[in-house]
Amino acid sequence: MPYAHITGWGMAAPEPILTNDDIAKMVDTNDAWIRERTGIRERRIARDNEFPSTLGVEASIKALTIANLRPTDVDLIICASSSPEYIFPATACLIQDQIGASKAGAFDLLAACSGFIYALNMGAQAIRSGSIKSALIVGSETLSRFINWKDRNTCILFGDGAGAFVLQASERPGGVLSAVMHSDGSGGDLLTLQGGGSRYPASETTLHDGRHYIQMDGKEVFRFATRVMASATQEALSAAGLTVDEIRWIIPHQANIRIIEAAARGLKLPMDRFIVNLERYGNTSTASIPIAMVESLEKGQIKPGDKIVMVGFGAGLTWGALAAEWTGPIPSKGHVHPEQYRAFGRLRSFVRRALRFIEGLLYRREL
Ligand SMILES: CC(C)(COP(=O)(O)OP(=O)(O)OC[C@H]1O[C@@H](n2cnc3c(N)ncnc32)[C@H](O)[C@@H]1OP(=O)(O)O)[C@@H](O)C(=O)NCCC(=O)NCCS
Repeated sequence: MPYAHITGWGMAAPEPILTNDDIAKMVDTNDAWIRERTGIRERRIARDNEFPSTLGVEASIKALTIANLRPTDVDLIICASSSPEYIFPATACLIQDQIGASKAGAFDLLAACSGFIYALNMGAQAIRSGSIKSALIVGSETLSRFINWKDRNTCILFGDGAGAFVLQASERPGGVLSAVMHSDGSGGDLLTLQGGGSRYPASETTLHDGRHYIQMDGKEVFRFATRVMASATQEALSAAGLTVDEIRWIIPHQANIRIIEAAARGLKLPMDRFIVNLERYGNTSTASIPIAMVESLEKGQIKPGDKIVMVGFGAGLTWGALAAEWTGPIPSKGHVHPEQYRAFGRLRSFVRRALRFIEGLLYRREL
C-alpha cells in the first residue's frame, strides 16, 4: 500500500492589515481586551479583487513548485473553505482551471475550520487506496466578506488567507500516519452562516435579519474547543501507535491562544511544542493550519523525520486531528515550473470557452 507524503507547501495572505486599533474605531473594544482574550493583534483582509480561488491559486503554485510537480500531473484537487466563492461551481474547479491542472478531479469540502484536516485525510486516503498518485489540498478563505463589522463578538476573530499542500504517493514509509474526524450536529446552531443557503435564500428579509453574517455563541464554542483539542490529538496518536512524547510539533487551529493553552495543559506539553502565529493572522479557518505550518517550515522549525500532529475544530460542530511524519520534497530529476502553467491554464481555459461557444452556434443552426 503506498504512503501519502506531504511534498509541497505554500501560503498566500492578502497584504492589507487590520489591527486591533483599527477595529476599535468600528466597535466598542480595545487592543488590550482582544489580545488578552484571544491573543490576536492583527489580521489580513482581502482586497476587492482577491477571492478564495485567487489566494488558493497563489498558495497552490508555491506548493507545486516546492514539490516540483506539474499542475498537469495533479490527480485530485480538494478545496476546503468556509467562505467558498460560490455555492457552485466549486472553488476547487476555479483553482483547477487557473493553474491548468487539466487531468485533475476537483471538489470542495465543507467541514468549517476542521476542513483542512478532513481534506488532507481524504486526499491521503485516496493515495493510500492506490486510486490516485497525487493530490493538491487547499484551504482558502475570504471570511471578511461575511463579517458584521458592528458585532464585536465576531469581528475581532477572523482573517483572510490561503494555504496548500501537495500529497504524493511513495513506497517509502512515512507521511500521513493516522487521522480522526468527528462531528456533533447538535451544536450546529453555535456557529452559523445561514443566508444564501436553500433554507434562507438571499432576500430582503435575510439581509435585514443579518443572516449573511457569521453568528456565534463564543462562550459555548470556546467550551467545546477546549474539550476536544487534547482528546482528538490523543486519539490520532494512539491510532498511529505513537505517544505524545514522540511528537515534535503540534500545529493547532489558530482560533484563540487560550484554547491552545488549554490543549497544552490537557496534553501536559509545554507551549513551545505548539506552532502559533494567530497574533498576526487571526482565525483564517481552513487556512490557519497550513499557514502556520508554512511559516514554521520557512523558519526551519519542522524538519524531515519530525512527527507532528495537526488538530482543529470548527462549526458543524466538527473536530479532528491528523498525525504525520514530515518528509519534505521527494528528490526528483529536473525542474518543473508550475508558475508557467498559469499562462497555459489561461490559454486552455480561453480555447475551451471559445470552442464551447462555436459548438453552441453550430448546434443551434442544426436545430
Ligand atoms: C469570542 C471570545 C473571544 C469571547 O471571549 P470571552 O472571554 O468568552 O468573553 P465573553 O463572551 O465572556 O464576554 C465577556 C464580556 O466582554 C464583552 N465583550 C465581548 N466581546 C468584546 C470585545 N471585542 N471587546 C470588549 N468586550 C467584549 C462581553 O459583552 C462581555 O461583557 P459582559 O460581561 O458585560 O456581558 C471567546 O469566547 C472565544 O474565543 N470563543 C471561541 C470562538 C471561536 O474560536 N470561534 C471560531 C471557531 S472555529
